[in-house]
Amino acid sequence: MHGERRGISYRKLDHLRICLDSLVRGGCSLLDEVVLPYSPLGAVSPAGVDVSVWLGSRRLEAPVMVTGITGGHEAAEEFNCFLGRLSAEYRIAVGVGSQRAGLEHPELARTYRAVRRCGGSDAVVVANIGVAQLLEKGVGYAEAAVEMVEADALAVHVNPGQEAFQPEGDIIEDAASAIERVVESIDVPVIVKETGHGLDSSTVKRLRGMGVRFLDVSGAGGTSWILVEARRGRGPVAVSGRWLAGLGNPTALAVMEARWWAPDACIIASGGVWSGRDAAAALLLGADMVGVALPVLRAYMAGGGGLVEDYITALIYSVKAAVGLSGARSIEEYWEKRLAVGGTLQRLAEQRGIDFNLYPAVRGWGGRGRCRA
Ligand SMILES: Cc1cc2nc3c(=O)[nH]c(=O)nc-3n(C[C@H](O)[C@H](O)[C@H](O)COP(=O)(O)O)c2cc1C
Repeated sequence: MHGERRGISYRKLDHLRICLDSLVRGGCSLLDEVVLPYSPLGAVSPAGVDVSVWLGSRRLEAPVMVTGITGGHEAAEEFNCFLGRLSAEYRIAVGVGSQRAGLEHPELARTYRAVRRCGGSDAVVVANIGVAQLLEKGVGYAEAAVEMVEADALAVHVNPGQEAFQPEGDIIEDAASAIERVVESIDVPVIVKETGHGLDSSTVKRLRGMGVRFLDVSGAGGTSWILVEARRGRGPVAVSGRWLAGLGNPTALAVMEARWWAPDACIIASGGVWSGRDAAAALLLGADMVGVALPVLRAYMAGGGGLVEDYITALIYSVKAAVGLSGARSIEEYWEKRLAVGGTLQRLAEQRGIDFNLYPAVRGWGGRGRCRA
């Protein structure tokens, strides 16, 4: 038991070390293919732009979520405490990492609880569990994760790409049934997320059919969990992981597919959405919110909380400036702006069955209400 706990904690520390020290970016998000609209005579001052959005019953000042990163080891407690304060101060959402360690070893729960303890009731917190544990342990497991951090939403991660290259990994082949049950019985929004290889249209259609309304596409082009695992491993499987690092749905395409096949869903664009430009591009494509993980971790380790605050401030200012310079006063108006994308993204979108003439109008269906519970 003790050894198993150490196993999970060591694996998490290994992941952190690799994400901090090595190149772990895989593939290409294709967000560079999006042209940001610019209207010299219609421009609105960034200060006058409203980029607030809902997440369930909570209002966020900016459409930003720090997606699940860590928990379950000593170093995580301080980081999650910082995230709690960040959320309360900037009114953005923050997630904890997979709560498996805390649920299976209650003495580690405090490393996750720190997010709520430090952020108080103003923090908007997203709990996190893996679909494999959900399938094995049932809905009670999800409820316990939500309760542990008094969460406002629950993220369930599906990550077969990572599992295929993790020495201790295991691909779950009948994950969907577990998700269906949890959506029916949990009373906070359930976000189904990938971890850097992207949701695709067949997954989105299936999830939407089951009643899942919150999707974090976590596409390819940012942190590649195939590559992280390949860097932990040795031998032919690790070589293969380096070859397949960029496998999956590029983030820009994943956002478009999710929006097209689930027009009323709340879509979080993550996976290499690292700069303010990336964020503005993802929102213009029809995402409701952007998610960031690695840049926050790296900023924290390089310069502490102050550097993360600078990063988040720059990210939010970029979104407000991009929206304002397009001539829009809100994200809703931004979704009405012209959509111009490069040939690669357009061709790929068309290959996936998206009608590019109709797509621009679909971006804003349902408006900001899409993320409201
Ligand atoms: C160090 C680290 C740990 C992560 N741990 C989790 C996790 O426990 N659960 C999860 O759902 N995603 C986890 N992720 C994935 C992120 O939430 C995100 O989906 C992915 O990294 C892509 O975003 P990025 O390109 O901004 O890093 C982790 C990411 C990082 C960098």
